[in-house]
Amino acid sequence: MIRQPIVSILGHVDHGKTTIQDKIRGTQVAAREAGGITQHIGATEVPLAAIRDICGDLMEGKEFKVPGLLFIDTPGHHAFATLRARGGALADLAVLVVDVNEGPKPQTVESIRILKQYRTPFVIAANKIDMVPGWRKQPGLSFAQAAAHQSEGTLAELDRRLYEIVGKLTEHGVNAERYDRVGDFTTTFAIVPTSGKHGEGIPDLLLVLIGLAQRYLESQLETAEGPAEGTVLEVKEEKGLGLTLDAIVYQGVLARGDQIVVGTTGEPIVTKVRSLLKPKPLDEIRDPQDRFDQAKRVTAAVGVKIVAAGLEEAVAGAPIRGVAGDLAAVKARVAEESAVHVETQDHGVLIKADAIGSLEGLAFECRDQEVPVGAARLGPVSRRDVIDAATTGDPLERVILAFNVRTLEDANEELQKREGEVDILANDVIFRLLDDYAKWKEATKERMAVASRLELKYPAKLLLLPDHTFRASKPAIVGVRVLAGRIRQGEGLLKDDGRAVGRIESIHSGEQSLKEATAGSEVAVAISGATAGRQIHEGDVLYVDIPESHVAALRKLELTSDEVEALDRVCEIKRKGDQFWGM
Ligand code: GTP
Ligand code: MG
Repeated sequence: MIRQPIVSILGHVDHGKTTIQDKIRGTQVAAREAGGITQHIGATEVPLAAIRDICGDLMEGKEFKVPGLLFIDTPGHHAFATLRARGGALADLAVLVVDVNEGPKPQTVESIRILKQYRTPFVIAANKIDMVPGWRKQPGLSFAQAAAHQSEGTLAELDRRLYEIVGKLTEHGVNAERYDRVGDFTTTFAIVPTSGKHGEGIPDLLLVLIGLAQRYLESQLETAEGPAEGTVLEVKEEKGLGLTLDAIVYQGVLARGDQIVVGTTGEPIVTKVRSLLKPKPLDEIRDPQDRFDQAKRVTAAVGVKIVAAGLEEAVAGAPIRGVAGDLAAVKARVAEESAVHVETQDHGVLIKADAIGSLEGLAFECRDQEVPVGAARLGPVSRRDVIDAATTGDPLERVILAFNVRTLEDANEELQKREGEVDILANDVIFRLLDDYAKWKEATKERMAVASRLELKYPAKLLLLPDHTFRASKPAIVGVRVLAGRIRQGEGLLKDDGRAVGRIESIHSGEQSLKEATAGSEVAVAISGATAGRQIHEGDVLYVDIPESHVAALRKLELTSDEVEALDRVCEIKRKGDQFWGM
């Protein structure tokens, strides 16, 4: 038996994902959404008969084995990565919606990356063609039929916009072409011009999807009677029912009364299906126009609401399996499948995400960009997360990368207490989160460099100027030129032969007292512990004495060649007494 392919609709916010599905269903979900934004994942079954109605003549005389399509709508900000099945993609196919007038946007690019990661075949809907200047609307017609009613100028402008998209997609490694010009669907992605608003091109989109499914996915769509396999889309509180699971069953049969195992971040849940609620065909699971149908049993592929006890720990993206036979074996399987497959290292940043798949997606990007991950956790950022991140060894890893999760109140308090020690970077686009981290790391490095320059004894070389001895001792006051580096109050001085010759008490330029003096400046320096004419003489070259413990840190700073030379010289001087000094 062949099941419906699961088709995920993704793309940038507001590019028309929900509207396209509304057109297919004949519903108005988009218009009823709060703020017009999709907040939750939804699933809709579109039977073949409905597709035939929409496609009309285009399907005349054609044989189709797939019984329909199961669409999954994703919020523009949501990771498609939540939709997993056996560690891979839940969707068999995807529609990447791109506003033809705006072209690809950050979330479009993110969607492409995820589709590539999971190797999910997809079609591009170049949507909102009715907004191309001069477009004469032709509700519900196929693209070719609608195009016949347009002026040459409008069609040329549409083509120009399409090929701008083609160009941008190429930059992201996607070779695409208008679908009626595609020769080989295995090497070229099809672009279908559509209007979700008026329906032009929607028949074409459906046909391309069904065609792809039939030609390339048949073996993948084989399903048998047998225990159910599914994925949690969302854990949702329902009035009068308690916590329920919105789920997709992609294999087998699920019936009322079945024992099921559901994945969590820890021990899997074992429970019984109390009832199964199914949206009517062409209706939406998350916003049904009609009431749900109570179902005795459902067959893959299907979007279904599962009512059961004890679902508190269930997480989005976790597997669901019906139990037939050995419960322990099923539990072990579910535990293995819901384990977060992230390789963590003994040090690194802390990553957080809202679902198993998105956490793995974030980890995948981290690995790609060589950002070490010390810990990977699901759920909102907690106080414990902040403490753990703050106490990581490397200051450049004292950060939490939070994808699509909020920060709890006590975590915020902890963060404030530890201001400057640890940061939370939050974003709802994964690759932006990595950009944010790169920027944060640079800024932190810079801050550390400034701080360490302030604390470290800094290499410097100075020349005692001839005829500039103002006082011989207690303290000696002499004129110097700083030849390299920086001198500061309190620093000890060394002669080239290794003898210590006092300490800088103060630095003056005319009447002004200075904290420091840098290369090139000529200043008066008060030196305690040395007498001019005895330990120090005009024309002497002196170095700032550097504690051995500062040498390694100094080597990491960006020093000028003169500064490096001064540091090297101090090391040479010291190594006369201790061969391994500063190594
Ligand atoms: P999110 O779920 O928030 O990511 O958005 P979405 O991609 O589902 O977009 P949605 O369908 O909510 O559409 C966004 C806006 O674009 C709405 O005002 C739609 O009416 C409008 N829109 C969608 N498709 C079309 C189209 O083909 N033509 C025109 N003119 N407007 C469209
Ligand atoms: Mg939407």
